[in-house]
Amino acid sequence: MDTVSDSMLVRGLVFIGGFTVLYYMLKWSWICWCGFRVYVLSKVWQTDLKAYGQWAVVTGATSGIGKAYANELARRGLDIVLVSRSKDKLHIVAKEIESQHGRQTQIIQTDFTEGHDIYPAIAEALRDLDIGILVNNVGMNYSDKLVHFLDIPNPEQVGFTHTPTHNNGLCIQLKGNGLIINMSSEAGAQPQPMLSLYSATKIFVTYFSRSLNSEYKSQGITVQCVAPFMVSTNMTHNLPPNLLLKSASAFAREALNTVGHSSYTSGCASHALQNIALSIFFPDWLRLSSYCVKQTEKFAQSMEKKIDEMTERSASKED
Ligand SMILES: NC(=O)c1ccc[n+]([C@@H]2O[C@H](COP(=O)([O-])OP(=O)(O)OC[C@H]3O[C@@H](n4cnc5c(N)ncnc54)[C@H](OP(=O)(O)O)[C@@H]3O)[C@@H](O)[C@H]2O)c1
Repeated sequence: MDTVSDSMLVRGLVFIGGFTVLYYMLKWSWICWCGFRVYVLSKVWQTDLKAYGQWAVVTGATSGIGKAYANELARRGLDIVLVSRSKDKLHIVAKEIESQHGRQTQIIQTDFTEGHDIYPAIAEALRDLDIGILVNNVGMNYSDKLVHFLDIPNPEQVGFTHTPTHNNGLCIQLKGNGLIINMSSEAGAQPQPMLSLYSATKIFVTYFSRSLNSEYKSQGITVQCVAPFMVSTNMTHNLPPNLLLKSASAFAREALNTVGHSSYTSGCASHALQNIALSIFFPDWLRLSSYCVKQTEKFAQSMEKKIDEMTERSASKED
C-alpha cells in the first residue's frame, strides 16, 4: 500500500515539476520572441508611418525626446507640427527640420500647465491638416533633484503636462486611421519613492494608453505607450550617452521602429533589458523599504552636489 502511494506521490511531483518547467520554458520563449520581434526584427520590418497621414503633431518638440521624434518622423517623410512653450525654440527646430529633411512644418506655441483651456485653440490650428500621428511627449520634471512629495513645487502643473486626457480634441481628428504615441516612463512601471508624483502620473499615462488602445484599435486608431529608462536630455542634465543611457536621437529611431510591433514598449532593447533586470533584482518590497528610501535620499544629496558643480563649471566656462 505504502509503495503504491509513494509511487503516486512521485508521479504527482514529476508531473507538477514537468508542468512548471514547461510553463517557464514557454513563457520565456514567448518573451524572447516578442523582444526579438520588437527590438531586432523591427529594424528591417518597419511600419510605413506615412500611411497614417501627411502630418505628425509632436508636443514638447523643441528639445530632448520630442525634438528627436520630430526629426525622425520628418526623416521618414512626414510633415511636422511642433508644439511647445518657446516661440524662438520652435522656429529654430522648424527651420532645422525644413532644411535637413525638406518637409513642411507648422508651430503652435502653448503652455500645457495652463490646463484644459488651451485645447480648443490647438484643435482649431490643426483643423485642416491631414493628421496621422500624435506624439504626446510633453512632460516636465518638477525639480532638478529627487524630492519628497511635500517639497514638490506646483504639483498640479505636473499632472497637466503629463496626462494627455484632455487631448480628445486632437485625438478626434485621427479618424479611421491614426497613431497616438504617449510618452510614459519606466518610473511609471513601479512605484518610485522620491519621484512619487512623476511616477504616479506616468502609470496613469500607461493605463490610459493601454485601455484606449484596446477600445479604439478596432476603429483603426493605434495607441502606443512608450516607457523609457534614462535618455540623455535636459531632464537628465544631458549626461553623456552610454550602453544604458540612450541619446535622444538613437532612442527615437529605435522607438519608432517598434510601432506596429508593440502597443507598450520600453522603446529600445537596452531599456527593455534594464526593465527585466530591475523587476528581478530590485523588487517592490526592496525599493519601497525605509532602507532604500534613506539610500535614495543620500543619492539625491550627492547628485545635487554634482549638478551644482556641473552648473558652476559651465557658468565659469561661459565667463
Ligand atoms: N529623459 C528621460 O530620461 C526620460 C525618461 C522617461 C520618460 N521621459 C519622458 O519623455 C518626455 C520628454 O522628456 P525629455 O527628457 O525629452 O524632456 P526635455 O528635454 O526637458 O524636453 C521637454 C520638452 O517639453 C517642452 N515643455 C516643457 N514644459 C512644457 C509646457 N508646460 N508646455 C509646453 N511645452 C513644454 C519643452 O519645450 P519649451 O521649454 O520650449 O516649452 C521641451 O521641448 C517627458 O514626458 C518625460 O517624462 C523622459
